[in-house]
Amino acid sequence: MIKVANLVKRFGDTTVLDGIDLEIEQGEIIVVIGPSGTGKSTLLRCLNFLERPDAGRLTLGDLDVDVTRATKADILAARRRTAFVFQNYALFANKTALENIAEGLIVVNRWPKAKAHARAREILERIGLADKADAYPASLSGGQQQRVGIGRAMAAQAEVILFDEPTSSLDPEWVEEVLALMKRLAAERQTMLVVTHEMGFARDVADRVVFMEGGRIVEQGPPSQLFNAPRDPRTRDFLRKVLAAQPAVST
Ligand SMILES: Nc1ncnc2c1ncn2[C@@H]1O[C@H](COP(=O)(O)OP(=O)(O)OP(=O)(O)O)[C@@H](O)[C@H]1O
Ligand SMILES: [Mg+2]
Repeated sequence: MIKVANLVKRFGDTTVLDGIDLEIEQGEIIVVIGPSGTGKSTLLRCLNFLERPDAGRLTLGDLDVDVTRATKADILAARRRTAFVFQNYALFANKTALENIAEGLIVVNRWPKAKAHARAREILERIGLADKADAYPASLSGGQQQRVGIGRAMAAQAEVILFDEPTSSLDPEWVEEVLALMKRLAAERQTMLVVTHEMGFARDVADRVVFMEGGRIVEQGPPSQLFNAPRDPRTRDFLRKVLAAQPAVST
């Protein structure tokens, strides 16, 4: 289980996360939505200490820490239990698809190279890129690069995969293949916390949708409830705007 309690993050005088409480069961798929600048990325980044939170308690499996007292070992443990998929893939340009997937296993998990490469080949099969093992990122399409980014997260065998707008820098033609891979992972009950503007994905795949605004969780619930009968006027207002821009999912 993953649990954050009263998570607070400030940048200077600005409170970006204003007491976030969130629990995620193993196998749950959570989608986080909300206006720009609301703290969605910061929430994901605080969960693996890419940002140091100012207050709160974080539970990730058997790790349970007051974030202000987290030691280096706690931070490493949090990073092992979370895997990140970035909007811009963040692949190593000078490493092949196979090496990108194997890298964390070698560096973080201290696996011997041969074992890590064998696992990376299995992952490449699962993400449909077995024939691209030796390709460098520059020779892959955006969709293929993001599938490698997801493959790297799969290899980590983390408690949860954190996705920060995984399709929003892709050309439209590559979005579907990335969403399809994410749907497969969801069907395998990989625990996922996904920030996305893809309302169709949220509606079809999420167990729970969380609406954030101003550094707080305003409302959360199953997609049928949140989309069809939002309780808070801020949720209704946000959904009206995004669904007007994505009419295919507004019915
Ligand atoms: N490193 C930083 N230093 C200062 N301010 C920051 C930093 N990172 C984020 N912020 C501010 O924190 C707020 C929340 O940012 P965040 O990136 O978490 O929002 P978001 O909900 O992910 O937005 P978007 O939908 O545009 O990605 C914004 O006002 C942003 O300017
Ligand atoms: Mg963001």
